[in-house]
Amino acid sequence: MKRLSSYVFFIVLCGLALSQPIKDRKCLREKVITFPQLATNNWVKLHPNESMDMSAATVCLRFYTEQMSLDPCLFSLATPSYPQDFSLRWLSFSKQYEMTIHSFKVQFDGLVFKNNQWISMCATWDANSGLAQMFVNKVASIKKEVGPKVSFKGNPVITLGQFQTQYDGGFNQHNAFTGFIADVHVHGQVLTIRQIKTYMEAKTKYKLGDYINWHNLMYTIAGSAQVEEKHQVTFYSKEEQQ
Ligand SMILES: *[C@@H]1O[C@H](CO)[C@@H](O)[C@H](O)[C@H]1NC(C)=O
Repeated sequence: MKRLSSYVFFIVLCGLALSQPIKDRKCLREKVITFPQLATNNWVKLHPNESMDMSAATVCLRFYTEQMSLDPCLFSLATPSYPQDFSLRWLSFSKQYEMTIHSFKVQFDGLVFKNNQWISMCATWDANSGLAQMFVNKVASIKKEVGPKVSFKGNPVITLGQFQTQYDGGFNQHNAFTGFIADVHVHGQVLTIRQIKTYMEAKTKYKLGDYINWHNLMYTIAGSAQVEEKHQVTFYSKEEQQ
């Protein structure tokens, strides 16, 4: 009886350990985060070293999906002032990418979104001009004005694979992402076209994020989301290797 109870205790402990979010600092070079299930309890949070005081920003990432939800969200940055301070979603009805700056929305048309292939994306915004631009697989959008011309400020909560409807939470199933996300970098400036091109070509020496750096990343991972080796989840050619 005693043995049985300690066995049960062990199982419960393991169960708890598995369901606890895991916080870690790692180099995720050559790695992806797998989101295997359409659910709001699978998420990843990225923890920057400092709170934000940036008058411009660029977010770059790659994703590979089989779209299962209506409007899957790739990246969501919330601050106490704006629950959608910088976010990136795909809108499946209108077939547009939506970028949100300081909780104001802007849509971009005609950029590629495809199941079962890697897609590289960068999005830029500058408080001086108030202009946003998106780049998807080396195609540039036009520039569009969005949001009040103020800096990003305060302590952000940054999530991958879920859309924050409020600061630090409020996830919706219809915004959950399924697939792989990799190479997430956040820069405190607008990258040049040349820098973005280098990132799109996945060359060795693209510019790493000075605010969020995939190669030195503090993150928390929860639910069934997990870190895997890129070469073990999809085919990719030599020139893509970094
Ligand atoms: C954050 O701090 C760590 C530890 O000091 C450092 O290694 C890392 O490069 C910093 N990250 C960024 C993006 O500056």
